[in-house]
Amino acid sequence: MLRARRRTWGTRAHRRTLVAVLAALAVVVPVGWMWADSLVPARYSVEDMGTPDFGGGPAGMPDHAGTAGMAGMGGTSVDQLREPPGPADVDVTLVARAGRVTLASGRVIDGFTLNGVTPGPEIRAVQGQMVQVRLVNENVTQGVTLHWHGYDVPSGDDGVAGVTQDAVPVGGSFVYRFRAGQAGTFWYHSHQVADPQVQGGLFGALVVTPPGGLGATGDVLALTHVYQGRRTVDGREGDVPAPGAPGTRVRVRVVNTDNGPVQAWVGGAPYRLVAIDGHDVNAPAPTTDSLSITAGARADLEVDLPADGAGVRVELGGASAVTFGRPLPPTPRPAGELDPLRYGTPAALPFDPDAADRRFDYDIGRRIGFLDGTPGLWWTVNGHLWPDVPMYVVREGDVVRMHIDNQSGELHPMHLHGHHAVVLARDGVPATGSPWWVDSLDAQTGHSYDIAFVADNPGLWMDHCHNLAHPAEGLMAHLMYEGVTTPYRVGGDAHNDPE
Ligand code: C2O
Ligand code: CU
Repeated sequence: MLRARRRTWGTRAHRRTLVAVLAALAVVVPVGWMWADSLVPARYSVEDMGTPDFGGGPAGMPDHAGTAGMAGMGGTSVDQLREPPGPADVDVTLVARAGRVTLASGRVIDGFTLNGVTPGPEIRAVQGQMVQVRLVNENVTQGVTLHWHGYDVPSGDDGVAGVTQDAVPVGGSFVYRFRAGQAGTFWYHSHQVADPQVQGGLFGALVVTPPGGLGATGDVLALTHVYQGRRTVDGREGDVPAPGAPGTRVRVRVVNTDNGPVQAWVGGAPYRLVAIDGHDVNAPAPTTDSLSITAGARADLEVDLPADGAGVRVELGGASAVTFGRPLPPTPRPAGELDPLRYGTPAALPFDPDAADRRFDYDIGRRIGFLDGTPGLWWTVNGHLWPDVPMYVVREGDVVRMHIDNQSGELHPMHLHGHHAVVLARDGVPATGSPWWVDSLDAQTGHSYDIAFVADNPGLWMDHCHNLAHPAEGLMAHLMYEGVTTPYRVGGDAHNDPE
């Protein structure tokens, strides 16, 4: 009896323990599973990432379990999507180097150079020319690549480590080739360990001029970058005088290579915003408004310099300015803000966005979870943490619409590689100005954007936030053309790490 009682009592204690253990397991097992599920292999193909999203278009394969099946379907490798070797009109060699650098301002930083300078050499081409750039890695131990930001190069020349090539190791080289099909202002930067390498100076400008040049208009490059907390223009701080005779017109090509937007305005004269992200604005009117330039974006501002030589300042972030004419003290930021959704004059689009073949959602949020085993508050895409993000699948020729909705609490400058998209609407309000073409678009928190583009550049393309700290925190997806594969792997022996 006693034994039985004891056994009963013992059983109760056991039950309590069991309940406690089960309760603990109920927490630990799912958390452990989530942790284990978040782990990313040391070497993986981006083709296998996430969930294929066909956007209502035809599915490229019978099972939706993964896109890897496409490789087995005998697809086209990104290596085949390259400009073939041959003569080049513009032929440049860029040698990447890590170490101490003296900026044009005289300030010494620890960073990166191309041919001994940062920003790297400006690459200039005339529309229609063949451009060839040989990248040599002198001593950057993590490896380097060059990505042609905003330029619709062939996929195999896109310069993304682990997606379109292996990172170039110390002593190695890689030759990029592309036809300069589009005139405008662009830039290039490393896409290997991109956040520290770009912040540290591994970038430069790419300018393509129309065959007739700019005529009588002066052409001034203003690449702005924050090196270790200091805003610079072409490596200089404060006022940077530029050439421009009184009474002439100048085009100032502002390139924002930072992780955040820069506010630009012009003191001393009105300006016209003549191009955004390398696309001409249709019939832009003179304005005095302040302009927010997205991280990674470019804005070409045209100013008629006063005939009497009075000063003009193109203010960048209120800390630096490109100056013309007689000295003019810094000017305050105007209250008005230029809204590209309503700026310029409407014009017909080269395609019909209402006849879309695919419609995608790119919803950006944030939640607690594990990112590759690390607990934290991470970005989500369509509710999921990286790498469980959508793989947007298209076919060549598709008209694609994408609805970007940012409810994450922070700003995200979204950048799609290899394509230019037109912004159709913001918060459902349609655009009423010039067609607003972008490759880099600030998605403000609490706002949504409808964009559209034609899938006319087969490949495997990143579609990510250009606050480069964020893709490293999981805000990154890809656009994949059905049947395109990559032989490259993130991680692995080349230590490919595109973010
Ligand atoms: Cu300017 Cu994916 O980059
Ligand atoms: Cu972001």
